[in-house]
Amino acid sequence: MANASWVFTPTLPHLNRKRISSSVAIFRSGLYSPDAISKRISCASTARGADKLSSNESRPARLVGKGCKLVGCGSAVPTLQISNDDLSKIVDTNDEWISVRTGIRNRRVLSGKDRMTDLATEAAKKALEMANVHPDDVDLVLLCTSTADDLFGSAPQIQAALGCKGNPLAFDITAACSGFLLGLISASCYIRGGGFKNVLVIGADALSRFVDWTDRGTCILFGDAAGAVLIQACESEEDGIFGFDVHSDGEGNRHLNAGVKEHEIEGGINGPIEGFPPKSSSYSCVQMNGKEVFRFACRVVPQSIEMALQNAGLTRSDIDWLLLHQANQRILDGVATRLEIPTERVISNLANYGNTSAASIPLALDEAVRGGKIKSGETIATAGFGAGLTWGSAIIRWN
Ligand code: ACO
Repeated sequence: MANASWVFTPTLPHLNRKRISSSVAIFRSGLYSPDAISKRISCASTARGADKLSSNESRPARLVGKGCKLVGCGSAVPTLQISNDDLSKIVDTNDEWISVRTGIRNRRVLSGKDRMTDLATEAAKKALEMANVHPDDVDLVLLCTSTADDLFGSAPQIQAALGCKGNPLAFDITAACSGFLLGLISASCYIRGGGFKNVLVIGADALSRFVDWTDRGTCILFGDAAGAVLIQACESEEDGIFGFDVHSDGEGNRHLNAGVKEHEIEGGINGPIEGFPPKSSSYSCVQMNGKEVFRFACRVVPQSIEMALQNAGLTRSDIDWLLLHQANQRILDGVATRLEIPTERVISNLANYGNTSAASIPLALDEAVRGGKIKSGETIATAGFGAGLTWGSAIIRWN
């Protein structure tokens, strides 16, 4: 980055009405010290190579790093709907068991030539339309997915499909059901760090392609979808990402994974070097210890939200909406009870879509915003959790 100049802005408005508890440093957990908050930084810079472009081609002013806010959302789901009754025709299960234990009644599944990337592109287009931002003005595309259409990542294909001129950076974030939450926080860090103004965060997954459809313990849970938000740099007075908390625990990987699996080659290869060339590989289906994942979620999610609230200088009573990764209605209910948040303040669309992994939070957000449930200026406690194990939460404001 060249020619950076730093400007300190004095206030963060949502904290004017709140007491800030401690004077600690920033960041892994999204901790904002009072000093750091009051010195929200804006950074003006010249993008590398921008001086070689004509004024028409110039990238938007690449600076900012003050506040960031959610200005648009969108979502897309496949057309094929699979009900619990449909599932009961292929595995030994029934609508009552699934709906009582999970809250799920239907899910959408990619079929035929449908691609995850197309859903993600559609969701992103809708988010841009709502935000009234042209694709050329997008600075960064973060595709949060564990089921990319391409081993090397699908974000650049979405950038191309959106028609973003100027080749903005686009890359994938792989963190399963925590993916969108981690993408949201990453976007805020890119913006606050300076140099990025409009960041598209897309959560999209097609776990139906990595589920064992003979395993009734997992196949009943998952569906496919995409959701997106546009995060935009703004003045500190409008800041809409107040605090966050993020973690991972690789020890817990044994409870939820879809590891690489080598293919047996008939007859084997008798090459001159033992073990070479390697066998080709693909990923195995989702392996899950449901009970352990359930316990993990009910334990860590309330703790993480409490921490994010503390980091934001807010309390439970400031939460208008609880928007969790949509994994199981009993997890949503358990977390809400622990946080003493009334049921009517909990966003849930599990019944219609099941667990759509990285898509679940932006899909539910989009429905709630477009349905008039979540209104401008309202505060949302959101949390993702899942494979990795990874988990995290953020306290955000809608638009
Ligand atoms: N239909 C009918 N019976 C079933 C089914 C089914 N689909 N699945 C399991 N059962 C049976 C079991 O065999 C067992 O029978 P048994 O008592 O005779 O042995 C009984 O029902 C109870 O099974 P449990 O596995 O103990 O059921 P549980 O109440 O734990 O519910 C579930 C299972 C729904 C998977 C739950 O554990 C869960 O939701 N866990 C969390 C999963 C999750 O949230 N994952 C999110 C992360 S995903 C990601 O990051 C990619």
